[in-house]
Amino acid sequence: MNVRFDPGVRLRGRIAPPADKSISHRAAIIGAMASEPVRIGNYLDAADTRSTLHAVRDLGAIVQHQDSEVVIRGCGMRNARATGPIDVGNAGTLMRLLPGWLAFQQGASFTLDGDDSIRRRPVDRIAQPLALMGARVQARDGRYPPFTVHGERLAGVDYELPVASAQVKSCVLIAGLATDGTTVRESIPSRDHTERMLLSAGARVTREPTESGGYVSSVGNSDELELERVDVPADSSSAAFLITAGVLVAGSRLVLDGVGVNWTRSGFLRILHRMGAVVVGEVEEPGAFGPHEPVCDLDVSYAPIVATTVEADEVPLAIDELPLVALLGCFAEGETVVRGAGELRLKESDRIATVVDGLRGLGADIEALADGFVVRGTGRLAGGQIDAHGDHRLALLGAVAGLASEHGVQVLGMEAADVSYPGFVDDIEALAS
Ligand code: S3P
Repeated sequence: MNVRFDPGVRLRGRIAPPADKSISHRAAIIGAMASEPVRIGNYLDAADTRSTLHAVRDLGAIVQHQDSEVVIRGCGMRNARATGPIDVGNAGTLMRLLPGWLAFQQGASFTLDGDDSIRRRPVDRIAQPLALMGARVQARDGRYPPFTVHGERLAGVDYELPVASAQVKSCVLIAGLATDGTTVRESIPSRDHTERMLLSAGARVTREPTESGGYVSSVGNSDELELERVDVPADSSSAAFLITAGVLVAGSRLVLDGVGVNWTRSGFLRILHRMGAVVVGEVEEPGAFGPHEPVCDLDVSYAPIVATTVEADEVPLAIDELPLVALLGCFAEGETVVRGAGELRLKESDRIATVVDGLRGLGADIEALADGFVVRGTGRLAGGQIDAHGDHRLALLGAVAGLASEHGVQVLGMEAADVSYPGFVDDIEALAS
């Protein structure tokens, strides 16, 4: 489906962005591991998180939609079983978190597969730590889906993450629940939704900063998880597309309701502030940790912006928003640089290549680096056509670029947005005045 986004509309009004994808995945998986029913309010209704509900159902959980809530009656920690392959669709988070649970289903085997994009995304990053813990994971070419997890009795590990990845950290911590104790060390902090949710489910979880700026997360053995209720905040990554539109489209003023502002997800807001954007809200203080997910309303106004540099230590806290930093860079005064973000090449598309080629095709002065990009701000973007390459964040990037451009942008494959933000076009229509 091709959709055109034209300039000339200011965005005004109040809106709740869609529910958080990361937290919804975790609520469904941890809910399926729990012994008592878990009620999830504001579960994200999008393709990725539907894949997670299907997956936990395939493993034996009962999933009901009651009023506006999803209720999961789980199978308990050690009773997951599947009769056929599990389809993760396009969901990388599902593919990398679920095996943490499956790895300790002793005597059972599970095969996971997904779409063409997922088949290009590496799983050796979870296979290696799970193997250290005693599980067996067999992947295509040792690295890619489809892959099979053979559940075993697991031993605890003290694992230093070789890549800054919340997905890998989460996988090891979930598997660690079945060990005498497991520790994951990260040299740069990444999102901590798993730690927070496990803590609220009664698991013994600690998370401490290190002297060198990293973090150490540990879990103890848990026979049972109890998670009565999860209320999913609005997704800060989906909100980032609306925020960027509000910042770039002259005369805009938006209030975004109930956005998750966990500091490990708010790197983009800190980058925006450096660029001079006006986004007002009470974001959680860096370093905070606890069983809850903080939320606040964000008030966004149009304002001129200046260039900035994003280095490796900021990358995990803004990883999914970095394409938007490239777009903002086109309109900022000066040269915007993102470095240390090689992980972008392993997302739903190679996001360094697709963002650089896509924005250049719209008239941007942008160059790829091996691990990021450099954008020279010209204060404008001509417009044209951009291919989403089946990547939801590329489709949404193209849409926002169109609203901020001179001549409009035609997004090829806009349906990719359904993975995280199915109502985007309707929301923009509602806000356009
Ligand atoms: C996610 C972590 C990030 C992010 C992805 C969701 C999560 O991936 O890009 O969209 O929910 O844990 P990595 O952990 O691989 O960086």
